[in-house]
Amino acid sequence: MGGNKTIDRLERLQGEIVVPGDKSISHRSVMLASLGDGVVRITNFLHAQDCLSTVACMRSLGVKVDEVSDTQLVVYGRGIKGLTEAAGIIDAGNSGTTLRLMMGILAPQPFLTTFTGDVSLCQRPMARVIKPLSKMGAQIVGRNGNRFLPITVVPSAQSLQGITYTMPMASAQVKSAILLAGMYADGETTVTEPYTSRDHTERMLESFGVPLKKKGTSVTIKRIKELHSPEHIEVPGDISSAAYWLVAASVIKDSDVLLKNVGVNPTRTGILDVLCSMGADIVLLNKRLSGKEPVADIRVRYAELHGTKFGAEIMPRLIDEIPIITLAAMLAEGKTVITGAGELRVKETDRLQAIMDQFNKLAPCIRGTEDGLIIKGGQTLQTAVCFSYHDHRIAMALAIAGAAGNGVEIEAGECVNISYPEFYDILNGLAK
Ligand code: S3P
Repeated sequence: MGGNKTIDRLERLQGEIVVPGDKSISHRSVMLASLGDGVVRITNFLHAQDCLSTVACMRSLGVKVDEVSDTQLVVYGRGIKGLTEAAGIIDAGNSGTTLRLMMGILAPQPFLTTFTGDVSLCQRPMARVIKPLSKMGAQIVGRNGNRFLPITVVPSAQSLQGITYTMPMASAQVKSAILLAGMYADGETTVTEPYTSRDHTERMLESFGVPLKKKGTSVTIKRIKELHSPEHIEVPGDISSAAYWLVAASVIKDSDVLLKNVGVNPTRTGILDVLCSMGADIVLLNKRLSGKEPVADIRVRYAELHGTKFGAEIMPRLIDEIPIITLAAMLAEGKTVITGAGELRVKETDRLQAIMDQFNKLAPCIRGTEDGLIIKGGQTLQTAVCFSYHDHRIAMALAIAGAAGNGVEIEAGECVNISYPEFYDILNGLAK
């Protein structure tokens, strides 16, 4: 089948890897720059399908975006009220972040927008965003009882009203949609999550001059008049992309890798905490700030790992890293128990099911529960043909499993283009 990727066993991993720009921050940089009062130069932008969906979306809403190079954009802000009606349906592709955050931005606009997306995105739950936005007075309709794409955001007759909303799940996408709509709503909007999810929207809003009140897991925003654009946003490297190398170097003997320029925002570093609790040898060097985001270089060396246990509280801080953490657990001594991971069932694919079905082909050692996984460690991996389900994070975790074990063939492996187009080139380069 076209798109199959063959990965060979890797004897060791050594050298420096510069991971690409952070996906979440890249999306937000284009969105806020589009609504800002000036011209913003964005560097280290993630040139991958998901973030390009956001660029295309903003362009169809009238925003001029110049691609100076793959990783450098210039966005000509149109002001907070400057977006215009798109001529057609906007396709968010595979990107939940594009769709959900844009719904928050578009709910208060005086024009109509219709969204669609790929097969995966059309199956993902949208009521979690539509419900709170509707409480604010937004008019949003979607397929199957306002739950799924296609979705139309209808212009609302009156301005949105601020709300106080407690989210049933920790989700940065839902939180961000509410905060972005809150910029246009009368009064105050307060959103509370069960546990704090990534706070890139909050940090970037602050760097555009928006005052926020934060208390525990609550954030409050007030209606604003304008967003003051910074001249430059440098996007830090993506720790979710670094995660594949963090685990690869931890489990492949003789490895010693320096990951350069990785975002280490504490709402994203759950992977570091879990790997360290498993005995990993990870050191953060050259800690610094990039705008309001903490960044560091990360040195990781091979270590003998042991099993661990973690659950709901840390989950938002490593939500996208469960597939690659599963691999670490398969190769660690002893048992690993993961709970509170039910949100993985509504990602680009049902990731708990995908992990069980595909990783068990390499070594039958994973048992699923409703909201987690139990992994028996100490495995020797065999080679197999595995399916990515067109999910980039499943594909990359399988590739590292092949490199750490005895090779793997990945069906529909090209989906890494969603977040890390150079992934296989780097892996192949390391094999030389
Ligand atoms: C993201 C939030 C998370 C994460 C996704 C990116 C974001 O999703 O899984 O990859 O940029 O806000 P949820 O908000 O659904 O947890």
